[in-house]
Amino acid sequence: MIFFLHFFIFCITQGFVLVHAQVQTGYISIDCGSPDNFNYVDLDTGISYTSDGSFISTGVNKNISLLYAYPNNPMLPQPLSDLRTFPQGDKNCYTLRPNGGKRSLNLIRATFMYGNWDGENKPPEFDLFLDVNLWLSVKFKNNSHVVTTEIISVALENTFSVCLVNIGKGTPFISGLELRPVDRSIYEIDPGISGSLVLFQRLDIGFLNGTGRYVDDVYDRIWSPYVSPLWDSLSTSIEIDISGNYYRAPSEVMQTAATPKNGSESLEFSWNVSDADTDTNTDTGTNTGAKFYVYMYFADVVVSGRNQTREFNVSWNEKPLFGNVKPRAYYASTFYNLKPLVGNEHKISIRRSVGENLPPILNAIEIFRVQEFKELATFSKDVNAIESIKTTYKVNKNWVGDPCGPKNYSWEGVRCNYTNSNPPRIISINLSTSDLTGQIAPSIANLSSLETLDLSNNSLTGQIPEFLEDLLFLKFMDLKGNQLSGYVPESLLERSRNGLLTLSVDNRNICDSCENKKRNIIVPIVASILSFLVLLLVFIIAWRIRSKQKTHIGNKANTNEEGRALESNNKQFTYAEVANMTNNFQTPIGKGGFGTVYLGQLKNGNQVAVKLLSASSSQGYKEFQNEAEVLMRVHHRNLASFVGYSHDDKKMALVYEYMANGNLKNYILDRSDHPLSWETRLKIAIDAAQGLEYLHHGCRPAIIHRDVKSANILLSANLDAKIADFGLSLGLPNDQTTFIFTNVTGTTGYLDPEYRKSHNLNEKSDVYSFGIVLFELITGRPAIIKTMDHIHILQYVGPYLAKGDTTSIIDEQMEGDFNLDSVWKAIEVAAVCTRNVSSKRVTMNEVLIGLKECLDMELTCGPRNGSTCGNMKIGGLRIDYSPEIYSMDFEVMTGPSGR
Ligand SMILES: *[C@@H]1O[C@H](CO)[C@@H](O)[C@H](O)[C@H]1NC(C)=O
Ligand SMILES: *[C@@H]1O[C@H](CO)[C@@H](O)[C@H](O)[C@H]1NC(C)=O
Ligand SMILES: *[C@@H]1O[C@H](CO)[C@@H](O)[C@H](O)[C@H]1NC(C)=O
Ligand SMILES: *[C@@H]1O[C@H](CO)[C@@H](O)[C@H](O)[C@H]1NC(C)=O
Ligand SMILES: *[C@@H]1O[C@H](CO)[C@@H](O)[C@H](O)[C@H]1NC(C)=O
Ligand SMILES: *[C@@H]1O[C@H](CO)[C@@H](O)[C@H](O)[C@H]1NC(C)=O
Ligand SMILES: *[C@@H]1O[C@H](CO)[C@@H](O)[C@H](O)[C@H]1NC(C)=O
Ligand SMILES: *[C@@H]1O[C@H](CO)[C@@H](O)[C@H](O)[C@H]1NC(C)=O
Repeated sequence: MIFFLHFFIFCITQGFVLVHAQVQTGYISIDCGSPDNFNYVDLDTGISYTSDGSFISTGVNKNISLLYAYPNNPMLPQPLSDLRTFPQGDKNCYTLRPNGGKRSLNLIRATFMYGNWDGENKPPEFDLFLDVNLWLSVKFKNNSHVVTTEIISVALENTFSVCLVNIGKGTPFISGLELRPVDRSIYEIDPGISGSLVLFQRLDIGFLNGTGRYVDDVYDRIWSPYVSPLWDSLSTSIEIDISGNYYRAPSEVMQTAATPKNGSESLEFSWNVSDADTDTNTDTGTNTGAKFYVYMYFADVVVSGRNQTREFNVSWNEKPLFGNVKPRAYYASTFYNLKPLVGNEHKISIRRSVGENLPPILNAIEIFRVQEFKELATFSKDVNAIESIKTTYKVNKNWVGDPCGPKNYSWEGVRCNYTNSNPPRIISINLSTSDLTGQIAPSIANLSSLETLDLSNNSLTGQIPEFLEDLLFLKFMDLKGNQLSGYVPESLLERSRNGLLTLSVDNRNICDSCENKKRNIIVPIVASILSFLVLLLVFIIAWRIRSKQKTHIGNKANTNEEGRALESNNKQFTYAEVANMTNNFQTPIGKGGFGTVYLGQLKNGNQVAVKLLSASSSQGYKEFQNEAEVLMRVHHRNLASFVGYSHDDKKMALVYEYMANGNLKNYILDRSDHPLSWETRLKIAIDAAQGLEYLHHGCRPAIIHRDVKSANILLSANLDAKIADFGLSLGLPNDQTTFIFTNVTGTTGYLDPEYRKSHNLNEKSDVYSFGIVLFELITGRPAIIKTMDHIHILQYVGPYLAKGDTTSIIDEQMEGDFNLDSVWKAIEVAAVCTRNVSSKRVTMNEVLIGLKECLDMELTCGPRNGSTCGNMKIGGLRIDYSPEIYSMDFEVMTGPSGR
């Protein structure tokens, strides 16, 4: 494990401090172990630190030994002079609340220096967890070794828990903890990987003097200076423009670069997995699983002469990663791999392209290791229940972080069942002798997997509640030693008599003195048979009522569970109400095989679209039901918002949010109207892709839309796009990735040729159709071009692409007002979506990444006017156009990592 020491800037002026102090929005900077309420501005960095108090309630503050402290160690950053240790409890956690809340991206940095605080000269070893997943096993080389670790992670909840776990090798401690919000659009990783990026190296290439914690790094990254003896340093005093690059490496970092001493050689940079901290993988016996992401920063620091150019290729282990990188002068760009680099040995080579006469350069580089997050947080209802119990009783235990996780470090007195692939469940609570007062908390009944409940020897009062009966798996319950009144509910007694439950209660809580219950004890068998019969009867009646209600979904009085769920999310209307809201179906706004869509208005004034099933359509009825079912299951900002439905006899209507700008098909093909800008087209494409991506990857089982087309993409008043019309969509049977279909449906022009031929349905069929929509957006022409003798859009674009002429197919209505590279990239995406063979098509995840890059290029690479964006990040998709469009066989450049 190598963690480079980080340094802090010293000779700093007051002005600097002020500047930094101003830009710390959202920063959390904790000097762990500093005296309570001791807040200060670190003069070296200008960062405002606070003490631990509001982030953790456990632990003991200590100072490091004088030998390692200032002034004996004048370079020691102030936050490292003290630390917080955790002699009590196996797991102690800091709770950090990022400003951006759930789903925000954050950089979290933890710093540790032992400094012989306990005089034992024996640095401990312990584990650091982020929520329930291991972040790092912390180990030290010596007393003064500073371990700094940084992770870039998405918040899965509103808070992060940073937990220190005692593994029996000394008392865990921590010196500093920092959180910095990061723009969500950067440091993305393959959405198929569940994990976070742990920093391996972050280097300011070519900088010789001093260190790198820069005032103007908005993310407060620490850049370590680095040069190789084989390199020459280049630098400029001209400020580098970082405004178009979301990675925002500070100008000071970008102003220095390195080139190889011998210009015909390549710039090389290598590392081995053993250098990175991969202790965490040793339990699997092999390190080959380590995955890396590399972010390379380029900006030319000299203006090249008229006949000189700088252009280079980047490869990884001799396999191409990006081609023809042309850094612009004084303008920052970032390149990174879209698929992780997997392997034990890694070598990045930057080599000038043939015929170019300036050597390659590199300004900065960040290398991250993927720390896979395989553990799940505890089942959320269990978490809510136990949190509520904790608050109700003011439980005086170290109950922080996740109740069950990390695995085998559950809260004191809480035991959990860990099953693969499911969130852990709480199965046992022991709150014996814990000074509990008040009544038995109703939230206990929400712990539906609970097997053991021990509340003995507290001061609980009140009745023994009936809701304990709801704990169906309860095997052991101890309520002895409380002041509870009333009796144990009969069904629990029953379970106890049948040997299913071990009950310990005070005698007064057992009802053997009261008259009418006494019989039960005298003739328990009769009673249990009787109660069983009664129960059975109740069941039968309930079931009858329930199935009756099911056949009358329209019946408002229905109170079964499904009915309630429906009503809470989606309103149910009567046919009369539907007629009323559409003013007796006055304004038709669309028509389809199923019937007509009408404009309507709800009582609250909101406009809606009402899709009414025509009485004649029998096929339509099934699709209608299907659509209603899908809509009730899925909720996403890019899927048509469902307001409600009506189902009176055979008259069925679906009510949606009204989308003021109609469907995309009409919008692009109505060519006289305001043509859409390229940026808007990309945003529409991204919206639609997000909707599909959710159906494919966010739903279980995955839902295949089966009728993706521009007519099914609706546009709101501000042109936000939503996917609509789920009439044909289909959930794949569980665990199946393809499904054979006898009945091929869809729309000509958009229909996947493979699916049409083989009836083999998988989500790649939607990807194909989406690719056609993308081509429509790019060319402004419909899937089937009527004005050109009904040729298919791929037949139209194919010959141009084969010639390498991408410009001719771009919709002339955009009048050249777009970034050419962005459009090219979109063409690549469309092309890999519409490959003939479904297995060679990309997934919606990948489509989304590609499209976001297009948008990035469009937004950041000025000037417009069809200019290219030679130095933006590329990578990922790369195609060669071959003459026969249906055999276009583009290779996705995943990097050699494969999948
Ligand atoms: C650490 O040192 C500071 C300054 O000397 C002192 O104020 C503080 O009380 C010490 N903390 C502990 C836990 O000894
Ligand atoms: C302690 O370990 C660090 C990291 O390996 C090293 O840089 C430093 O020189 C060591 N210090 C001493 C006093 O050995
Ligand atoms: C580094 O610092 C030394 C001493 O202050 C100075 O002579 C040298 O020019 C500096 N180098 C650079 C590249 O700034
Ligand atoms: C530079 O590298 C090339 C190719 O490796 C080699 O042929 C050439 O001799 C080198 N030049 C010098 C000055 O070392
Ligand atoms: C990585 O390991 C290989 C083989 O063990 C060795 O030749 C190479 O020098 C190492 N590279 C680095 C950067 O440590
Ligand atoms: C262009 O290249 C030629 C030959 O390499 C060189 O002699 C000339 O000075 C260069 N011109 C400029 C403006 O750099
Ligand atoms: C650089 O990359 C481009 C595009 O990938 C490729 O055509 C070219 O041959 C590469 N050049 C070198 C020197 O590897
Ligand atoms: C844990 O859960 C699994 C799956 O629900 C179940 O089969 C198993 O019996 C449970 N184990 C315990 C100890 O409750």
